[in-house]
Amino acid sequence: IDTQVAIVGAGPAGLMLSHLLYRAGIDNVVVEKRSHDEIANTHRAGILEAGTVQMLAETGVDGRVLSHGHEHEGTVLRFEGESRRIDFQKLVGQSVWLYPQNEVFVDLAAARERDGGDVRWEVTDTEVRDLTTEQPTVLCTTKEGEKLEIRSRLLVGADGSKGICKRQIPQDVRTDNFIEYPFAWFGILCEAPPSAPELIYANSQYGFALISQRSDTVQRMYFQCDPNVNVDDWDDERIWTELQRRIDGPDGLQLQRGPIFDKTVLPFRSYVCEPLRYGNMFLVGDAGHTVPPTGAKGLNLAFCDVRVLAPAIIEFFGSGDERGLAGYSAKALDRIWKAQNFSYWVTNLMHVQPGENPFNMKRRRGEFETVTNSTYGSGYFAESYTGWQDRT
Ligand code: DHB
Repeated sequence: IDTQVAIVGAGPAGLMLSHLLYRAGIDNVVVEKRSHDEIANTHRAGILEAGTVQMLAETGVDGRVLSHGHEHEGTVLRFEGESRRIDFQKLVGQSVWLYPQNEVFVDLAAARERDGGDVRWEVTDTEVRDLTTEQPTVLCTTKEGEKLEIRSRLLVGADGSKGICKRQIPQDVRTDNFIEYPFAWFGILCEAPPSAPELIYANSQYGFALISQRSDTVQRMYFQCDPNVNVDDWDDERIWTELQRRIDGPDGLQLQRGPIFDKTVLPFRSYVCEPLRYGNMFLVGDAGHTVPPTGAKGLNLAFCDVRVLAPAIIEFFGSGDERGLAGYSAKALDRIWKAQNFSYWVTNLMHVQPGENPFNMKRRRGEFETVTNSTYGSGYFAESYTGWQDRT
């Protein structure tokens, strides 16, 4: 097949880019190794920045985000049982939306299907080559067993943190910026009513817990755990006891319990590949960078990449102007490093390090006061969490 843009990966980043290019009349083909249903059932974070919601709504993917999503005008940071609310609307005049990221994927896939997009699910043996030529190519085998060669003018790697694309950038032109954290998150989904009207990010001597939501009847919660934990060692009773003791406080807040039907462990890593371009290949989303889940920046950041790359590609095919493509990596990285800093900072603010020095616990209490008891401190949190307005 010959196309203008070949996209490897049909997660939210790849599909959003495909959708925007289609709207601009640019031919593109997307290949994905997983099945649609596997991605649809992979639970991710649930918070969308205002700019992400706007992007979905303005480009005709609004589907259900506005009708089924819930606007959150603030969030709660809780330390040793004491809650402090960060009022996003009052501080920065923006909200976030609670709408599961796997539903964003479902909506985008439906939009691509509706518009006749060429998305090949469940391909195998994917390879990319000729990246520094004017005909970068994707090779793969389709679900039906047919060998496919997709010759393009530009190739986009949207194939996630374990993808093949970034590994094609030679070691001597690529910098892998990487840190790991000595903890992970144990995530659950349960059938229960919400325990609180907004999300609660809680720190306690036992570690971090996040009380999030999905709907009136399904809730999402997480607690800091050892990265090597085995979910099968944790029955419902043990999980509820652990979550509850991390939010216990003088206000008597009690979690609404119910049957737990999904348990997963989420690794904690921070990673940035520099640059995000090699020849005629461009990386977007997790293929180029990963954030720890605290702060829910992953998908939002992927959309920011697409918001920079899509107009650059459109301009390139429209007038031949390459300046947007030339500037993509640096422009996207500006925002990526801001989000890396926020995700890293809020992770360290809210978690307890194994074997932590008591000095650090007390210092963190001071940090909590600095953030929550000050318009300026909470303003930084609110601005970062809801998404920097420059939108680049
Ligand atoms: C959710 C996940 C996050 O990482 C976060 O910061 C907020 C919410 C969630 O799954 O609901």
